Amino acid sequence: MKKPSKISPDKHFPPILKVVRLKECTSTNDYIKENITALENKSPLLVTAENQTKGKGRENRKWHSFPGKGLYSSFLFRFPIETKINFLSLAAGIAAAESINSLTGISPELKWPNDIEFRGKKIGGILIENLIGKDFINSISGIGINISCSRNDFPAELSGSAISILEITGKKFALKNMNIKLSSSLLRWVTKLREGETETIMKKYSGYMKHKKGDEVTFHQTGENIKGHFAGLDKTGGIIIRLSNGKLETFYSGEISTATSQIIR
Ligand code: BTN
Repeated sequence: MKKPSKISPDKHFPPILKVVRLKECTSTNDYIKENITALENKSPLLVTAENQTKGKGRENRKWHSFPGKGLYSSFLFRFPIETKINFLSLAAGIAAAESINSLTGISPELKWPNDIEFRGKKIGGILIENLIGKDFINSISGIGINISCSRNDFPAELSGSAISILEITGKKFALKNMNIKLSSSLLRWVTKLREGETETIMKKYSGYMKHKKGDEVTFHQTGENIKGHFAGLDKTGGIIIRLSNGKLETFYSGEISTATSQIIR
């Protein structure tokens, strides 16, 4: 295993959280996966890097990293196998939205499952990877937030769809402060998940959701585009779409877009 640059208590982080800070890695999610045998007993754990050379997004997309200008953090949690793990994605979305709001005053919206947006542009995203064992799930929640990138940093293909906190507020927020807010919020919501408070998670998540019940949406899944209307969140953590034939269908993976929002690549 690669030697972590640092694992030490830091009085600003929640006391039970172990923190590994890296100058650079390929991807903070991959760092945890590659070192899982050594790291699994250290959960809850945060691995954060100043830069990623191969940042990953959902649906096999690339996540662009800008050294020192974005938050690139992955959390490792170990859950009993019976945990309703679909809700982790919602819990992580809430934590990202809540911590951005508390640090910067911005009111972000969540596009299901967990794109973090401001006025239709993407501020951040979340990639959850679950390693399912016999009795436990080692779950990695990778969170990326555009903190102080400027317009010129974004590559041409993202220029119309991405935005940073600096662009919205005109202020540079310290990555460490964002990580501290994010960590304490995520630990709170993960505790609710552990305690089976999925109703509370759904309710809070709905408050941040960009899509409202009845909105016309297109659902994108494995190359298929399914038209329908957003009908709410399902009790098992999926999204319910009323299809054009009137039937209700629940989806657990994929993405949605509306007439005014496109899938951001
Ligand atoms: C998405 O919106 O597609 C998800 C983006 C997730 C990016 C974060 S950055 C930290 C962690 N490491 C990665 O390689 N990806 C996630």
